[in-house]
Amino acid sequence: MNRVMVTGGAGYIGSHACKALRAAGWEPVVYDNLVYGHREAVKWGPFEQGDILDEARLAEVFAAYRPVAVMHFAAFAYVGESVTDPEKYYRNNVEGTAALLRAMRKAEIGRLIFSSSCATYGMAETIPILEAQLQAPINPYGRTKLIGEQIARDYTHAYGFDCIALRYFNAAGADLDGEIGEDHDPETHLIPLVLQAAAGIRPTITVFGDDYDTPDGTCIRDYLHVADLASAHVAALERLDAGSKGFAALNLGTGQGTSVREIIEAAQRVTGRSIPVTMAPRREGDPAALVADPSAANDMLGWTARHSDLDTIISTAWNWLDLSTQGALRRA
Ligand code: UFG
Repeated sequence: MNRVMVTGGAGYIGSHACKALRAAGWEPVVYDNLVYGHREAVKWGPFEQGDILDEARLAEVFAAYRPVAVMHFAAFAYVGESVTDPEKYYRNNVEGTAALLRAMRKAEIGRLIFSSSCATYGMAETIPILEAQLQAPINPYGRTKLIGEQIARDYTHAYGFDCIALRYFNAAGADLDGEIGEDHDPETHLIPLVLQAAAGIRPTITVFGDDYDTPDGTCIRDYLHVADLASAHVAALERLDAGSKGFAALNLGTGQGTSVREIIEAAQRVTGRSIPVTMAPRREGDPAALVADPSAANDMLGWTARHSDLDTIISTAWNWLDLSTQGALRRA
């Protein structure tokens, strides 16, 4: 079976990608330092603990498994923390990516799927966002992802690497079979926090700003089910395996925008719970709207989002919250 190394494969998106890889006939070899990842989320292939900054360890794991490609999920991803502690982000996300690519080059592994972000666009001028739109990130996290793309692109030009960078919009939801889900600590993402409020685990959901230039005044995002993100990674790998050359960057989203208020309303409907809301000022650095134009990914990968309707996103996340709290929601 062909092997793929998955850095960050014990994390939220990486673990869902591993499940999809296995189902498509690949063996995912997870390489994760477990700083944020969860050992119990590694279920579909071998696990090797290691840090992307540790080139000797990377060389050892490459030699042991001989993967045909690398999916590089491992990164720190708290936008707010990246502003207060940029050093942590430049070290892990930029230096770590550079170390990984050096180790790949030494091991003669030239195929890379890179986890990028809509955060590389910054305050998008036009919605929906096309890949050619100016990338002008407004926080260190977004800058680290843009630099990662640029390093990968330079490796394709100079050293014959082949890379597809995937610019995720808002990953959401949990595994359709309830085997894995979203477990961030601390949790900062809207949907898990809304569901915690629905469950009574937190008293309220705080809405950051209702004075944006959007129809209901709250921010609009493009929420993509993590199973759709996972299947896009498999499709991208299959493109590289079929001989796709050079560098490509693709948006992964649905093309549909949803406001914070709409998320809260949908969560109330799906869970049947009322959700107390507290209004707060805008959160620094939040663009009013980020919505993908996903047509390039649709065309190049033959991929489209299939599970990203709000009901599926929220019901799978609600099911995961229930499972991960040992059925506390059913008893409440
Ligand atoms: N929000 C609230 N209350 C909360 C949490 C979030 O109102 O308690 C709002 C935010 O202001 C934003 C929306 O809900 O308008 C979504 O916020 P998330 O934190 O869930 O997601 P972001 O859009 O801020 O972040 C996501 C990814 C990042 C990525 C970013 C790009 O999680 O990794 O998109 O903008 F960098």
